[in-house]
Amino acid sequence: MKQLNLSEQLLTNISNAAKEIKIGGIVAFPTETVYGLGANALDPIAVAKIFELKGRPKFDPLIVHIADLSDIKLLASSDDSRIYQLAEIFWPGPLTIVVPKSTVVPDIVTAGLQTVGIRMPKNSIALELIKKSGCPIAAPSANKFGKISPTTAEHVKKYFPKIDLILDGGKTEVGIESTVIKLNERGFEILRHGVITKEEIESIIPYYSEGKNDVITAPGMIKSHYSPNKPFYILNEKVKSRIDKSKAGIISFSGKDTEGFKRIIYLSETQDLSEAAANLFGAMHQLEELDVEIIVAEPVPEKGIGIAIMDRLKKAAYKSQGYIKKNIFLK
Ligand code: TXA
Ligand code: MG
Repeated sequence: MKQLNLSEQLLTNISNAAKEIKIGGIVAFPTETVYGLGANALDPIAVAKIFELKGRPKFDPLIVHIADLSDIKLLASSDDSRIYQLAEIFWPGPLTIVVPKSTVVPDIVTAGLQTVGIRMPKNSIALELIKKSGCPIAAPSANKFGKISPTTAEHVKKYFPKIDLILDGGKTEVGIESTVIKLNERGFEILRHGVITKEEIESIIPYYSEGKNDVITAPGMIKSHYSPNKPFYILNEKVKSRIDKSKAGIISFSGKDTEGFKRIIYLSETQDLSEAAANLFGAMHQLEELDVEIIVAEPVPEKGIGIAIMDRLKKAAYKSQGYIKKNIFLK
């Protein structure tokens, strides 16, 4: 009975949120990755409010969320069969596909680019919200620009105490943002790593990077990101000898090297990378709140989902540690 009441309440909340979207308002909602700050993707004035609220630079494009494959035709200029091939395997799910955009997508959504990032989230609240709103929803992660992404409704409230429409779906399952890929003539390239790996996508369509690096530079691919409001370091010998552990908190993966730290947060007791990803931003939020002056994170093995986790850690550590290359730090 309780379950039924809860879901009825949630359905009412979703209906109210959809009404808000329809009149050009903004709603925070859960996806399987992180919480999003959504508006009608086809309404430039509504979308402008997201940029304003988040303090996001206008050169950083937003992802458009859909609930039905028929919206691909609306948003993309070409009916590329590879989108459907990928959708069949990975959607709904944490994969964003960047494709040439149609004219209905306002320039503000794509930051003036001729491409649009589309994804179908795997979260029933998100899907219901999109369906009830009757439009695709443009949404960045629901954090202030450059800060740690939110994986609970409480995290969203911390950033935006004045937003009254936050749909609460509990803690998100995946915990880090979607893999973003861009389709090119010969295959796909990766713009942001996520839990869907290059190898998994490569089993459907070929990998072909037009850039020199594995990850090409694109708007929004900023070196510093996910920054906690305290100094943040990736653990290495130098850091170990420099910091006062009695004033520091550690985010631990292996369970080793934790001695002397004031606070310890374990990402996964079984060293499971998916579980670690799901707990990563929550751990960073927690240590922001706790009585420590410094946050340290243990590096994880840089393979599979570990690549996406290390990407987030390196961006979080950039301001304090000046990450430049694999395992090379300025400080
Ligand atoms: O999991 C996610 O992707 C979450 C949830 C809410 O869906 N969203 C998210 O949005 O992480 P945001 O705005 O925080 O990050 C979107 C990234 C940005 O780095 C942006 O530059 C890239 O996707 N992006 C979006 N559209 C693009 C485009 N047309 N070309 C290149 N990059 C694009
Ligand atoms: Mg973000």
